[in-house]
Amino acid sequence: MKIAFFDTKPYDRAAFDRYGEEYGIKFKYFEAKLNEDTAELAQGYDGVCAFVNDTVNAAVIDKLAAFGIRVLALRCAGFNNVDMKYAFGKIHVLRVPAYSPYAVAEHTMALLLTSVRRIHKAYIRSKDFNFSLAGLTGFDLYGKTVGVIGTGKIGRVFIDICRGFGMKVLAYDKFPAEGLADGENIKYTTLDELFAKSHIISLHCPLTEETYHMIDKDALAKCQKGVILLNTSRGSLVDADALLDSIKERHVGAACLDVYEEESDLFFEDNSGHIMEDDTLARLITMPNVIVTSHQAFLTEEALSNIAETTVKNIVEFFENGSCPNELCYRGGVASDCKSGKCF
Ligand code: NAI
Repeated sequence: MKIAFFDTKPYDRAAFDRYGEEYGIKFKYFEAKLNEDTAELAQGYDGVCAFVNDTVNAAVIDKLAAFGIRVLALRCAGFNNVDMKYAFGKIHVLRVPAYSPYAVAEHTMALLLTSVRRIHKAYIRSKDFNFSLAGLTGFDLYGKTVGVIGTGKIGRVFIDICRGFGMKVLAYDKFPAEGLADGENIKYTTLDELFAKSHIISLHCPLTEETYHMIDKDALAKCQKGVILLNTSRGSLVDADALLDSIKERHVGAACLDVYEEESDLFFEDNSGHIMEDDTLARLITMPNVIVTSHQAFLTEEALSNIAETTVKNIVEFFENGSCPNELCYRGGVASDCKSGKCF
């Protein structure tokens, strides 16, 4: 079986080659991102493997379907880059629903600690033998309130980590998890109350039409002065211009962003020799209280191995049985995991 693998990075290959060999799948690695211009590369392959910043819109789906490609294996959990409605009935979309919630949750805490204890500043200072502590005063996380939006796999691990630090948790989820709230240190609440009472807010919900720009000018205005915003979920949950304005107004105290609205043409690539065209991102990066990592939260050995194993098993299972439990389908107006086993 031959699979066209788009947006390949050097760290992808080892695990995919290992599991591919074990299960009889040959990957052809393309560095190009999948989009209308590059979809032609998939001609002659049995399936396509794509990642978070590949574009799978109607035009791409039509091209893949015309080449007789029946399966799109996403090597990620999020699928906001796929036109799921259009894909229904044309191409089967498989995903990796979980590979290491620990990787993302731990990175989120790493960003928070870096920001709060000014580690990013201290690291650069000590490299220059500047051992001054001026301006590095942080604050204790113990006893602070963290607002967690989205209490799925990653959100719950992040809550566990925060509880380990003695923080109080205010949670918001469209579908609250049973048994999570303990009536004392972890409480579900409304978004407005979460905004008003949290010292730190962390986003762990998916990007949907409903959650697009959920952190906008109005939401930021409802937050406490000095709030720290953590986004390791998806860039478009946050209106980046509104965030920048709020930071300039000294309302938002700090922001840690592993994802960014317009990341698809920038993140994962070395742009150090290029003029940065995105003024909002450039300005955010100049801020002493903003930390940006480039969609790195998933990047652990364990996660890479789990991603490759599940993706390969998804493909094998799909071609053997014509179905796969990790298939996504667009039924009843929403995209969700297919429970029927046969999406169309
Ligand atoms: P999950 O599906 O286990 O949890 C998502 C939670 O969000 C669910 O509890 C769901 O009910 C909730 N939710 C859905 N709509 C909501 C809404 N409108 N308002 C509030 N909550 C809502 O997903 P998981 O595995 O925890 O991943 C969360 C997100 O993390 C993914 O959607 C993805 O965007 C992001 N992610 C980021 C990575 C990175 O490297 N930065 C890696 C993996 C995931």
